Amino acid sequence: MAIAMKIASHISKSSWIRRMFEEGERLRQEFGADKIYDFTLGNPDVEPPEAFNRELLRLAQNPVPGMHRYMNNAGYAETRAAVAGKLSRDSGIAVPADNVIMTCGAGGALNVVLKTILNPAEEVIILAPFFVEYKFYIDNHGGVPVEVWTNRDTFQLDIEAIDKAITAKTRAIIICSPNNPTGVIYPAESLERLGALLKRKFEQTGHLIYVISDEPYARIAFEGKQVPNIFPLVESSVIVTSHSKDLALPGERIGFLAANPRMSTAAQFMEGAVFSNRVLGFVNAPALMQRLVAMLQDESVDIAEYQAKRDLLVSELSGLGFSLVKPDGAFYLFPKSPLADDVEFVRLAQKHHILLVPGAGFGAPGFFRIAYCVDKEMIERSLPSWRNLAKESGLSA
Ligand SMILES: Cc1ncc(COP(=O)(O)O)c(C=O)c1O
Repeated sequence: MAIAMKIASHISKSSWIRRMFEEGERLRQEFGADKIYDFTLGNPDVEPPEAFNRELLRLAQNPVPGMHRYMNNAGYAETRAAVAGKLSRDSGIAVPADNVIMTCGAGGALNVVLKTILNPAEEVIILAPFFVEYKFYIDNHGGVPVEVWTNRDTFQLDIEAIDKAITAKTRAIIICSPNNPTGVIYPAESLERLGALLKRKFEQTGHLIYVISDEPYARIAFEGKQVPNIFPLVESSVIVTSHSKDLALPGERIGFLAANPRMSTAAQFMEGAVFSNRVLGFVNAPALMQRLVAMLQDESVDIAEYQAKRDLLVSELSGLGFSLVKPDGAFYLFPKSPLADDVEFVRLAQKHHILLVPGAGFGAPGFFRIAYCVDKEMIERSLPSWRNLAKESGLSA
C-alpha cells in the first residue's frame, strides 16, 4: 500500500461528509443545483462583517514595513494583547497576552494543545455526539480517545458519566459549547461541577486533567444568551477557538489558544505550546489575518440571520413530528432519526434531494445533523421535500 495503513483505515472510517458531498455533486449535475438541498457542510454562507473589509483595505493602503516576515511563533504582541483584552473582559479574570498563542484555526490550536500535553497512550475524553476530527487529532499525538455520552435527551454534560470514565491515564477532556453538532450551550453551573470534579481528582491523586474548551461558535448564541467563559469555572482549562465561524473566515485559517491564568502549570504549558506550534510546521498563524483580527475582537457576523434560520427549521421540522432539542447557538440541528438506522434515513433523505450527515459520523447513531449555515431561500425551497420525507419515514400522515 502506497500510504500508511492507519491513514487508509482513517479515510475509510471518516468519509461521511465527503461521501455526502460527492453524492451532492452528482445529484446537482443530474437535477440542477436549485433542486438539491445540501445541509452537510459547516461552511458559513454569510460574508465577513463590513469592518473586516474596511480594515483589509486600510492595511493594503498603509502597509506596515516587514508585515509579511516571520515573527515570534506565538504571534504578534499587539494581536495577542487584543485577544487577551477580550478574554479578560469576557471572563472577569486578567488574562496576560503571554497566555495567548495565535494559531492556524481551531483545528491548529487543538493539535498544538494535544501535542503539548499528551504522553503515549494517555486518554482524552470526548463527549458524544462530537466533532469527528477530535479522534484523528488525538491519534495524531499518540493519545487514545475515550467516548462518553452527554445526556441523550438534552445533550447536556453528564458529570457522573465523565467521573466514571476518568482513569489514571486521563490527560484531558474536550468540550465544545455552543456545540457542533447539537447547538447546545453548557450552563455555568454544569461547567462549575466539572471544574469541582477535576479539582477533587487533583487533590486526591495529584493528577492534573486539562479541559480543552473548543469554542469557535462562542459568539453565535441566540436571544442574547451569553456563553459562559470557562476560565472562572474550570481552573485547569485551555480555550481553543478561531474566527472561522464568528467572522466567517474559515479559509483564512486564523484562531488562537489561551491558557487559564489560574492554572498552576500555565507558564510551562505555554512554553510547550509555542514550541509545538513551531514544530508542527504551522510556524505562526497567518500574518495578515493576525493584523486584521486584532481590530475585530468585538465584531461578529449577523447572529439574527442564523437565529431566523434556526427558528424556521425548528418550527417546520417539529411540526412534521421530528424530535429535536432546540439549539441555543452555533448553526446545527441534531434531530432523532425517525428510522432506527440513521444511515438508512439519510439515504432516504437523498431520494428527496435533501443531503444530511448521519449521527454515526459524530459517534451518535440514531440521530442526523443539519447544518443550516445555508441560504434561507434554499431552506424554504426544501420544505415540501421535508414534508414528503417525514411522510415516507412514518412521521406525519
Ligand atoms: C467544533 C469544531 N471545532 C473545531 C473546528 C475547526 O475549526 P477551524 O476551521 O477554525 O480549524 C470546527 C469546524 O467546523 C468545529 O466545528
